[in-house]
Amino acid sequence: MDLKVFRDELAAAADWVADYLGQIARRPVARPIPSAHRQALAAGVLPQEGQDLGALLDFVDREIAPFPTGNGHPAFFAWINSPPSPAGVIAELLATAINATCGMGEHALMDLERGVVRDLASLAGMAPTTGGVLTSGGSMANLLCLGAARTWFLRHHGATDGPAYDQVHARLTAYHSDQAHMSVAKAAAVIGLPPWRLRAVPSTAEQRMDVEALRAMVDADRASGLLPFCVVSNLGSTASGAVDPIEAITRVCRTHGLWHHADGAWGGLGALVPELAPLYRGVADLDSLTVDPHKTLSVPVGCGAALVTEPSRLRDAFAFRASYLAGDQDWPWMSDYTIELTRPGTRALTLWATLRHLGRSGVIALLQHYQDLARYLRRRVQEHPGLELCNDSTLPVVCFRLAADTETGRPDARADLHTAVAARVQARGHAYLATVCHDGETVLRACVCNYLTTTDDVDTLLEEVQAAAEHLRTT
Ligand SMILES: Cc1ncc(COP(=O)(O)O)c(C=O)c1O
Repeated sequence: MDLKVFRDELAAAADWVADYLGQIARRPVARPIPSAHRQALAAGVLPQEGQDLGALLDFVDREIAPFPTGNGHPAFFAWINSPPSPAGVIAELLATAINATCGMGEHALMDLERGVVRDLASLAGMAPTTGGVLTSGGSMANLLCLGAARTWFLRHHGATDGPAYDQVHARLTAYHSDQAHMSVAKAAAVIGLPPWRLRAVPSTAEQRMDVEALRAMVDADRASGLLPFCVVSNLGSTASGAVDPIEAITRVCRTHGLWHHADGAWGGLGALVPELAPLYRGVADLDSLTVDPHKTLSVPVGCGAALVTEPSRLRDAFAFRASYLAGDQDWPWMSDYTIELTRPGTRALTLWATLRHLGRSGVIALLQHYQDLARYLRRRVQEHPGLELCNDSTLPVVCFRLAADTETGRPDARADLHTAVAARVQARGHAYLATVCHDGETVLRACVCNYLTTTDDVDTLLEEVQAAAEHLRTT
């Protein structure tokens, strides 16, 4: 390595990063990748000779950066994708240079991870015993928690191996709401649960899990010889921001000896916001919680967290020994809590840097910012003669639709129109939103999770929706 060249290229990259993030709002929200370019990128032909370090920045500037899908742009409302925090961007670079393998041995970043996990648990309002691990995202955190729940249940029933394992495992049954994120179904499949034994509990008109239906399903399954072991609730459903009734679900779990895992990938820190706090009563009694710092906290992708009230239950599920890895039993390795052995230290440092930069009050102010903007959007939708609000969630996800066209009036025509409106808004590049199935109908959905977003961006979004609808209705 030529240190001078390295230093110069790093400085150039730092300048580029500052310009890129500093001017993000001036560029299009999205730009489709021309198909020839897409194919060239995907071709994967490695030249025989290496290239200068300087070619890297040129390549990113020319071939990658011009084609974002919104993430980071303040008028991007499609999914729960936020821009990277400034502290997180710097921390990512630093942690990459240190390149710690945070699964084994001793690393200051591994200890820092324990600390930020505690910070997250405290922000979420979980019990003081809570520990866990950082993950690549919410999907992986859901998987770890379901894995821990399964092992906990098997141990509790003296069924960790032999015929008892086979008999108990074959009857395991879990429950999630019909609004659950699909990563819960993936996790269930990975731990060996057949799809028909992950039961979808119906939700109420507010998209919250119907606890009486849950109770009845658990009773019926137990009566037929199945073994209910886990309920997964939503703290912020993906489609509409619904928060399931935590305390009532925990009561069902405690009555029948089930694990209560909550998927709070994006809504898991809602207890910090005064207007949301009542919905989050009972978080301290959960068995586990998924939180995704790379969503509402703007920690660079990918940073999720599996938080478990009794962290030893993660170890029961994931601590495996090998002669070439003699760990310290008093100060367990982080790989004992997860399925990864070699793990990046970037997650711990980016999360730590972001949290320290914000402080507790900054975190609350950030979440409140999303709330305020979502309230503004809801109000604008309600006042707009051509739009109708579909969900009344207090979390910052706003589902809305075009008011029925007096000429067609057919719901299916409206669903097609919503898909076409979203596509047209996306293609024009001034704002970006997506559709979602809400109450069986395809409607428009806007998520607010960007610290740069202002009411002007919300206004732009609605102007774009309105213009797209008019265009489509008249052509
Ligand atoms: C409620 C919920 N759970 C889990 C996930 C998956 O998280 P990730 O994309 O970080 O794997 C998402 C993603 O949007 C989500 O909304």
